Amino acid sequence: MKKFFALTLCACLLLSLLAGCNTEQAQDDTDYASMSLEELKPLLNTVKEGTLTVATSPDFAPYEFYTLEDGVPKLAGFDMSLAQYIADQLGLTLEIVPMDFDGTINELGAKRCDLSMAGYSPDPAREKSMDFSDVYYTGGQSFVTVQDKADLFPSLADANKAEYHIGAQMGSIQYGLAQENTPDADIVQLPKVTDIIAELISGKLDGAFIESVVAETYAKNYPELKVLHPVPYDAEGSVIGVSKGNGPLLAAVNKVLATALADGTFAGFVEEANILASGNTYEGLLGENGQPTEATEAPTE
Ligand code: ARG
Repeated sequence: MKKFFALTLCACLLLSLLAGCNTEQAQDDTDYASMSLEELKPLLNTVKEGTLTVATSPDFAPYEFYTLEDGVPKLAGFDMSLAQYIADQLGLTLEIVPMDFDGTINELGAKRCDLSMAGYSPDPAREKSMDFSDVYYTGGQSFVTVQDKADLFPSLADANKAEYHIGAQMGSIQYGLAQENTPDADIVQLPKVTDIIAELISGKLDGAFIESVVAETYAKNYPELKVLHPVPYDAEGSVIGVSKGNGPLLAAVNKVLATALADGTFAGFVEEANILASGNTYEGLLGENGQPTEATEAPTE
């Protein structure tokens, strides 16, 4: 009898220990991914009740940029259409907060927004501060220069010289690509991709690391740009950054993404963004909060 008691006690201790471990590792082990959208909706918890707060960095056509509607800058891009679509599907009101790219990472890390939709690469270094949705788009990476300088760089390795000023967006994986591929060059970090484009054109920068699709989109408005060499990168594809540990929201976002990708909704957003990006887009300065400070028009062909 004593032995039985001792054994039961041991088993109890072991069980409580295991339970303790469990709660420490994952506070919520509910399998949200297997739930339907209708089941997930009542479980959704957002920064502001009833609202989906989304940070973005609108210097990244065709993902997110300002288009001019009767001379008035307006947020556009497939990330923005997708943000509205997700909010609608979740029954939430959308609130977009524009800011510089490195700010989007901080905002999401500090849980001041629910999502960050800014053409994020699933960079493992970011996993501590956010969760990633499934990949919804693949844009590739490139070394970009201007037509007049293309001959200087027969290969990517030729850009790795101290005399060259090479740009990359602050806080982006492209900065890592610059450090990896052109460590000897003067690497210049700028807050906005549109600043990098402007400095390539003005001659302040000799080259830059930019996502291929984005560089090609800006090259349509600025034919001086030359998207020169593809650059290898492991964590390819774009994801939505989701507030860390918000299991129901992550599952709901992935559900909506899967539908939008499967039924052509997302393809439609991309098509529309490409048309808008090749029209009158706002390339002027963006103020500290990422909003336009002046209404200038990009040259059209
Ligand atoms: N994909 C790159 C990254 O995650 C660059 C994204 C830049 N996005 C933007 N909206 N400017 O680091």
